[in-house]
Amino acid sequence: MKKLVAGNWKMHGVASDLAEVKAIADASREYRGVDVALCVPAILIERATRAVPGFPIGGQDVHFAEKGAHTGCISARMLLDAGATLTIVGHSERREAQRESDEEVKAKAEAALNAGLAVILCVGESDSDRGSGRALEVVDRQAERSLPDAATGQLAVAYEPIWAIGTGKIPTLEQIAEMHAALRQRLIAAYADAGREVRILYGGSVKPSNAAEIFAVPNVDGALVGGASLKAADFMPIVAAAAASKVEGSHEAA
Ligand code: 13P
Repeated sequence: MKKLVAGNWKMHGVASDLAEVKAIADASREYRGVDVALCVPAILIERATRAVPGFPIGGQDVHFAEKGAHTGCISARMLLDAGATLTIVGHSERREAQRESDEEVKAKAEAALNAGLAVILCVGESDSDRGSGRALEVVDRQAERSLPDAATGQLAVAYEPIWAIGTGKIPTLEQIAEMHAALRQRLIAAYADAGREVRILYGGSVKPSNAAEIFAVPNVDGALVGGASLKAADFMPIVAAAAASKVEGSHEAA
């Protein structure tokens, strides 16, 4: 499966940072074997797509409604209109701060996919879930409840342990393998054979120094990168590691 390395710029980026978007898009052309994308702040999407025509630019959230009285929100059609081709949904920072439920995340994913956007749907356990031995159970329930009913269009799932985001800590490679295998099982349960083709990304403190070992883990089909996606100098070695990793023919759940 072709790997996907997506950057999540979160609330970083103004016009002067378009030079980094351009540097990343230009350098990514050398890695045809990897899909690369950047999810930038909504207000930067249109300028980013004009700066790098043809390079995938995404949003970081989308509303589930087509339009209406939703102050401050952005619809799938608006993202497409600005030139976006994908969006993140269900990031833990939104699940927490905006109190987004699994049901809401599912509705957002379905709205985006139906409109023609690719979707990166995030799941992940808290520190206390991991500490109490409930990580697999919590993430599986999140996935079960927030996955769209049909895997139509382009869906990817991102496993992002909350305690690994922005902390420099990552799970052991065994823990990543275990979680990604469980997510693969969940995707196969939801979509039968089509569930084998849904990419499962790892996110949380992915850096140039750990990317290669993470990409070598079975069922890791790419990465969702926060801090290290802001600069081409940090991001491109991660893309290069994805390009160098062995491409598996098929994915079997462990
Ligand atoms: P960091 O790579 O900064 O840990 O962020 C991960 C993340 O939340 C990507 O969505």
